[in-house]
Amino acid sequence: MDIEFVAADQALSAKTALARIVYEGAKLEGVLAQAAAASRFTGAKGQTLDILAPSGVDAPRLVLVGAGKADAVDAIGIEHAAASAYAAVKASGLTAVRIELPDAKADLAAHAALGVRLASYRFDKYRTKEPAEKKPSVVKAQVVAADPAAAGKAFEPMAALADAVDFTRDLVSEPPNVLYPAEYAQRVKKLEKLGLEVEILGEAEMMKLGMGSLLAVGQGSVRDSQLVVIKWNGAADKTAQPVAFVGKGVCFDTGGISIKPADGMEDMKWDMGGSAAVAGLMHVLAGRKAKVNAIGILGLVENMPDGNAYRPGDVLTSMSGQTIEVINTDAEGRLVLADAVWYCQDRFKPKFMVDLATLTGAIIVALGGDLAGCYANDETLGANLIAASQAEGEPLWRMPLPAAYDKKIDSTIADMKNTGGRQGGSITAALFIQRFTNGVPWAHLDIAGTAWRSPSTIPTSPEGATGYGVRLLNRMVAEKYEG
Ligand code: BES
Ligand code: MN
Ligand code: ZN
Repeated sequence: MDIEFVAADQALSAKTALARIVYEGAKLEGVLAQAAAASRFTGAKGQTLDILAPSGVDAPRLVLVGAGKADAVDAIGIEHAAASAYAAVKASGLTAVRIELPDAKADLAAHAALGVRLASYRFDKYRTKEPAEKKPSVVKAQVVAADPAAAGKAFEPMAALADAVDFTRDLVSEPPNVLYPAEYAQRVKKLEKLGLEVEILGEAEMMKLGMGSLLAVGQGSVRDSQLVVIKWNGAADKTAQPVAFVGKGVCFDTGGISIKPADGMEDMKWDMGGSAAVAGLMHVLAGRKAKVNAIGILGLVENMPDGNAYRPGDVLTSMSGQTIEVINTDAEGRLVLADAVWYCQDRFKPKFMVDLATLTGAIIVALGGDLAGCYANDETLGANLIAASQAEGEPLWRMPLPAAYDKKIDSTIADMKNTGGRQGGSITAALFIQRFTNGVPWAHLDIAGTAWRSPSTIPTSPEGATGYGVRLLNRMVAEKYEG
């Protein structure tokens, strides 16, 4: 998507749809007032009114988009309105859309552009037969701004963000035969061109480190497990303590010997969404040259049933030295994170760690598909995450870490077991990871419900991979940990 900021008086070129974002109750002139009256269009949030060949308007098509009440509109609301405008005309055959805002301030114009960028994501590389007339035709968005140069400047970090979100979405969308751990690691390695440093550890190196927990999960796969370490050293003080992010990267989760039902198993290609969000975060930090030292760690495995697969009943020794009785091989994400999180604190001594994982079906039962669960053993970190999530429109809900539930994962043969029963399943999964944090301030985001969305319920997030997490983490770093 080509983005341009223009002055209000710039002539409209042919094949450009006009989209006017209006506040609720705004006064419309002439034919627009008539059209609005004939369709109950009031400018309420989410409303669109598509007018073809409007008389007296210098465009072949005009879309009115409601942004809601003027005093309640925020940046995310403008993104959503602009995204809806794009969606209304994207397959019209027109090639551009010009967006007019009720308030053309630079920051809002930039957010409108971000909304269109995010909404125009499409993963169609494997579709060879889609007719051209079904594909989106709009390839350019012109956003009207009071000061186009200032809007362009405000958009720079947002363009870096959109690139990163799309990188994450691409990883999550790729099929599991294409994106297995080694291929995934190589794609992340390519981010070195942005100035990141990327290290890849293979099975032999992880064996030496004693990562018996992570390695057990990948044991049944013909694909080698990988641990990817991504570094961004953007702080003025290159030795300043880093912030750290760890992601679950199960490239495919069959459940292993505790195999999952066939129905819907194809969804488990996106069981690497947590790690993809971490990779996306590192992408945007480098893309906008964030003044922070940050570490991203991806634990990449494939969970398969096999003659060599790990079994229920196995006792694993993790890098921390703690032993784990396997009850269910489908509770594999926490086993991957156990070693990745321990390694992270052991090697980098970070200020804090945030892990992201499509960890449990239980979080979807608890919170549904729009909210991710946020567990934190540090109040500042928890509050920072929630504030960032609200500002970026990536909803997050604080969940508890009750000490009394911790004994649910005690084992009689080992230090702990990898499931705590059906009740509070997302909580006991979080408590399991907490046992590997070694006292470092830590938060865990269970994004099982939010990494993938079908159908789309948010205009800036088309059906499929959402890229959830990149925006909120980027915001938190920018506001709380830079400078
Ligand atoms: N990857 C799944 C969790 C998941 C389920 C993500 C549905 C997205 C949609 C995870 O590895 C898993 O299988 N968890 C089990 C844990 C159970 C065996 C204790 C679950 O949630 O059922
Ligand atoms: Mn599983
Ligand atoms: Zn899983």
